[in-house]
Amino acid sequence: MPHPSRARRLRARTAPAALPVLALAALALAASFALPARAADAEPGRQLFTAEAMPPCALCHTLADAEATGTVGPSLDDLKPSADQVRAAVTRGVGVMPPYEDLSTEQVDALAAYVSGVAGR
Ligand code: HEC
Repeated sequence: MPHPSRARRLRARTAPAALPVLALAALALAASFALPARAADAEPGRQLFTAEAMPPCALCHTLADAEATGTVGPSLDDLKPSADQVRAAVTRGVGVMPPYEDLSTEQVDALAAYVSGVAGR
């Protein structure tokens, strides 16, 4: 058994040392929440691009982030369109690319944000 006063001194010394560890743990926890949240933001746009928009954009366009390798239309990784450019192409159509009249404004916005955010990365 350590002398009582010695035990108190030990405890006093270990408490401050634990603080940085706790701070790091809190940061790691915060980061682990922040990361999936960011990925989830891109997910609806990515889903639309690869599957839900009909016909799927991935059928005709190359976009590395979506693992899309279509070659009918221009590679969006090369074109790096702005969100407005994507919005215009999707709502009005361009050349043989059909207009997507069934997509809601939210879906078009999700696509525009997703494609302009990941193209060329
Ligand atoms: C049937 C094939 C096809 C599909 C499906 C398709 N595209 Fe396209 N897309 C094209 C072609 C072809 C062009 C080039 C048209 C031209 O320049 O005449 C094009 C052009 C574009 C452009 C460039 C527009 C500009 O300003 O030059 C963007 C952005 C784009 N498509 C995004 C999308 C998105 C997002 C989707 C899905 C919602 C999609 N495309 C689906 C064939 C397709």
